[in-house]
Amino acid sequence: MNNAWANIMAHAADAKAKPLSVAEAFSDDTNRFKAFSVQWGDLLFDYSKQKITPKTMELLLALAESAQLSEKIDALFSGDRLNVSEQRAVLHTALRDSTARPLWVEGENLTSEIVATQEKMERFVSAFRAEEKKGITGLPLKHCLCLGIGGSGLGPSLVCEALAPYKTTDIQMHFISNIDGETLSAVLKELPAEQTFCLVSSKTFSTLETRENARKVRAWFEATLNDRAVGHEWIAHHWGAVTAAPDKAKEWGMIDAHIFPFWPWVGGRFSVWSSIGLPIALSVGMDGFRSFLSGAEAVDQHFRETPFAQNIPVLMGLLGIWNINGLGYSTQAILPYADALKRFPSYCQQLEMESNGKGVSTAGKPVSHQTAPVIWGDVGCDGQHAYMQLLHQGTVVVPVDFLVPVRSRSGHQDLQTLMVANALSQSKALMEGQIDTETPLKTCDGDRPSSTLMFSQLTPRMLGSLLSLYEHKVFVQGILWSVNSFDQWGVELGKQLTQQLLPRLMCHTQGQNTPNNRTDSSTEGLLTFFHRHQGSDGQYEEQSSTGYGRNGGDRNSDLQTTG
Ligand code: F6P
Repeated sequence: MNNAWANIMAHAADAKAKPLSVAEAFSDDTNRFKAFSVQWGDLLFDYSKQKITPKTMELLLALAESAQLSEKIDALFSGDRLNVSEQRAVLHTALRDSTARPLWVEGENLTSEIVATQEKMERFVSAFRAEEKKGITGLPLKHCLCLGIGGSGLGPSLVCEALAPYKTTDIQMHFISNIDGETLSAVLKELPAEQTFCLVSSKTFSTLETRENARKVRAWFEATLNDRAVGHEWIAHHWGAVTAAPDKAKEWGMIDAHIFPFWPWVGGRFSVWSSIGLPIALSVGMDGFRSFLSGAEAVDQHFRETPFAQNIPVLMGLLGIWNINGLGYSTQAILPYADALKRFPSYCQQLEMESNGKGVSTAGKPVSHQTAPVIWGDVGCDGQHAYMQLLHQGTVVVPVDFLVPVRSRSGHQDLQTLMVANALSQSKALMEGQIDTETPLKTCDGDRPSSTLMFSQLTPRMLGSLLSLYEHKVFVQGILWSVNSFDQWGVELGKQLTQQLLPRLMCHTQGQNTPNNRTDSSTEGLLTFFHRHQGSDGQYEEQSSTGYGRNGGDRNSDLQTTG
């Protein structure tokens, strides 16, 4: 542990021994809000309700300096191979650089590829929106079914949902990520195959969930279009892909004009700015998509050029470090006060937990400190009638980010004002608490930290800025924790095991479960139960009211054999 870390930890030990009363700190220092907030354009970042003093911030900023954060930020934007385990540059920021200045990385000008891809997206989007894209029967395509999971699904679905008021087309967007047959059936039931375009978004073009959904959708098309779905011609009309493996998309039968590249230097969870954003462009138009990119680009500039004491993503990262490593708060709630941002916490969950949920440093050593917090959240005010009770009085302290738009997009400013009142009262109540000597059960301790990101309105540009703020926060924390924020070996392990186990689930006779492919007794027990309750035709059996199928045996014998 270097000096800067040691200083933070010593300061944290003092803070735990003599906890700060934030409410008192506000009374003692009328300047506190001014000192601990940053106004940047239409956005205000207020972190004055965090459990910090000027000394805390001084030490945290020193930590950033000691980790040479400025140099690391330069390295990020210059295309250094920061993804050390995969030896890749991390250049999602180049995707939103509107200056079109050449970016040479290892002999290649990435800018020309990016511009060419955006032009290709633009051609496709304007033809689709102008109803020039027709299905095999000659009818215009009116539905876009988007298949993709993780970074290839979360971003586009979040942004399309959040920017619904900016939608400038009647093309209907549909998203499927999971391999849940119920969702698939429900979505397909509503779709006219003749007017549906299926977009497969997968960097690798081999992710199991996306691959299997694509297989099912193809079978549905074939069954629905009947004799029109023969050969490859219908695929040329109805299918497209966003992928870094264009050859695999071609093997599938897709045509060049419908294959949109992205590159190894764009990580999945940072890819919404790339052609993975095609559904967004279809929905809000290319201008809307560019406006979304411009919001992120503005944050990139802020991140690169602003002194750390006023640099919002740097401050967000440092405050997280203080809460997690200093004060020992290991979760973080993200609470947007806008239904439009319902998926925002899930997006941040992947961004933060897949990036920094690491226990080994970039040097290959076990880390000795906690890394990414558990990210969770949902929209306010709903949360106030669900989990906020625990945040006020529970035994676990959960730092909160409140995301609060000022202006309504619906014209119901009265409701928006009520929403804002709720958000502000929650952060105030968390900070001040209440002591009730007569009714101790009513006591709320207070001093529960929160930050508030308040912004004028949820526009495409503002949404781009918000996502980019969190991206850079994650980068800052990855640097301070010395972990590689850009790989995901844990996820890979799960994927590999699924491939190994799948044959065990697919075979119907126990005899095929040879000792060579036997696994631990828990997995064996679960496999046995699965086989017993799955119909012999491979379909799930109808469940009886006790939860057991027709051939499931009686409850006791099931319990005995699985025990
Ligand atoms: O969730 C793990 C992950 O590897 C993500 O990083 C990625 O965004 C997602 O799977 C989907 O991968 P692909 O785009 O290759 O289908």
